[in-house]
Amino acid sequence: MGLALFPALENQLTMDKFVIRGGTPLLGTIRVSGAKNAALPAMAAALLTDEPVILESIPQVRDIETTRKLLAAMGAEVELGYGRAQHRTTICARNLATPEASYELVKTMRASTLVLGPLVARCGRARVSLPGGCAIGARPIDLHIKGLERLGAAITQDHGYVEAAAKRLRGGEIVFDKITVTGTEDLLMAATLAEGETIMLNCAREPEVEDLADLLNKMGARIEGAGTSTVRVQGVAKLHGAKHRVIPDRIEAATFIIAGALTGGDINVVGCEPEHLEALLQKLAEVGVKTARTNESVRVMGDNPLKAADIVTEEYPGFPTDVQAQYMALATQAEGTSVITENIFENRFMHALELVRMGANIKIEGRRAIVRGKSPPWCWRPWWRKARLLLTGSTTSTAATRISRKSFAAWAHKFAASARSCPKNSAPGDSAGYFPARINVPLVASTTHTPCRSAWLLPYKIVQSSTFCFGSQSSM
Ligand code: UD1
Repeated sequence: MGLALFPALENQLTMDKFVIRGGTPLLGTIRVSGAKNAALPAMAAALLTDEPVILESIPQVRDIETTRKLLAAMGAEVELGYGRAQHRTTICARNLATPEASYELVKTMRASTLVLGPLVARCGRARVSLPGGCAIGARPIDLHIKGLERLGAAITQDHGYVEAAAKRLRGGEIVFDKITVTGTEDLLMAATLAEGETIMLNCAREPEVEDLADLLNKMGARIEGAGTSTVRVQGVAKLHGAKHRVIPDRIEAATFIIAGALTGGDINVVGCEPEHLEALLQKLAEVGVKTARTNESVRVMGDNPLKAADIVTEEYPGFPTDVQAQYMALATQAEGTSVITENIFENRFMHALELVRMGANIKIEGRRAIVRGKSPPWCWRPWWRKARLLLTGSTTSTAATRISRKSFAAWAHKFAASARSCPKNSAPGDSAGYFPARINVPLVASTTHTPCRSAWLLPYKIVQSSTFCFGSQSSM
């Protein structure tokens, strides 16, 4: 099905630039999408059956479109939902004429290698390009290949492609030398159709692995122990169609939570699984960020000063490498020195240099980044943080209007209290939301502020010469 049918997705895919005007605390309620890293293996799992697999809560991101192309090139029918069903994807792999993944697709998305296991298990052969180099590290797929060999596949590597063949895979014992997420997923899928029992040791324990096992069990697989280090699979002869909703994206949730803390905002992140965010939430408590959680939401209230704290990225349930960059941005605004150790990928600090260009004080020593905050030192002073909690909007006047620190702080206090008493789940833009009305704040002309501080004030809408408008742009 052509992409033209999905204008919203098409717009997203052509977007390659974000223009962000800073200085605005993030306020309101936001719902988390389905997990991209759960959606990709779920789409690959559909190759294991000739019946339709219906996947819900599929995020609209580029990798999903790449996977659609990948599966379609093999002969699968992939229907991405649209309109009200825009997050539903139906895949029917009745005919898989070409069980191959070309370099053109694999080079744009490394997770394409997830089709290797399912293809050889279902079709008896697979030809998948090796992914090549990656910006964050070497990222080989040797453990996928070794595991398939343990299941009886004959492997050859030629012209940058891996070819795997086996009339029928047979169960065996696989011990991963290193914990690998997509490696565990790839071999889990392969083992479902193998003859006999497969025992996998030192598996990845990520929630996305468990989610994949849930889908596979719905399709008729017999998997036990997913989400722990030891997974047992009793192979079956055939799998059938199923319907499955992928889990919420914990990386997206973590990103919103950190954004709330970093901007001194107040965000309710809903539709997430707080238990998947344990490592981050514990760290944020150490940093001094206030959070409140329910079964399916996390509210972050960024009105405390931030304190430095170290992190070490690890496999789940440790601190995720995919949240390391976001945490580093937060660390630049914390008082003191934070040491960030990247244990998963050998070259995942490119963002540090970009932060340095923006004035951050970060030193890289091999796999460690030493972040000294706050940097730049003039921003995020406590009284400004309070004020930022309340002010949103856009500039209609470029006049360097300033108010006195004392009166601003007093008003900030008052409206912080009113914001907290607002209806639950209200969002900026709701007229009954966080900031119900325009608030008059007396402006006191002052020339004592530094240019940095006055520039910082410009994003706020000046309604009259002596009035600030509190509230989101759309509520004005
Ligand atoms: C997955 C996630 C990615 C996340 C990463 C680590 C998906 C689609 N992507 O990537 O967002 O950052 O887990 O949590 O789920 N390794 C080998 N040989 C192999 C496989 C991996 O040496 O055969 C190494 C890698 O180079 C890396 C480490 O193992 O250093 C972990 O990689 P892995 O867990 O496989 O990452 P991905 O599954 O590619």
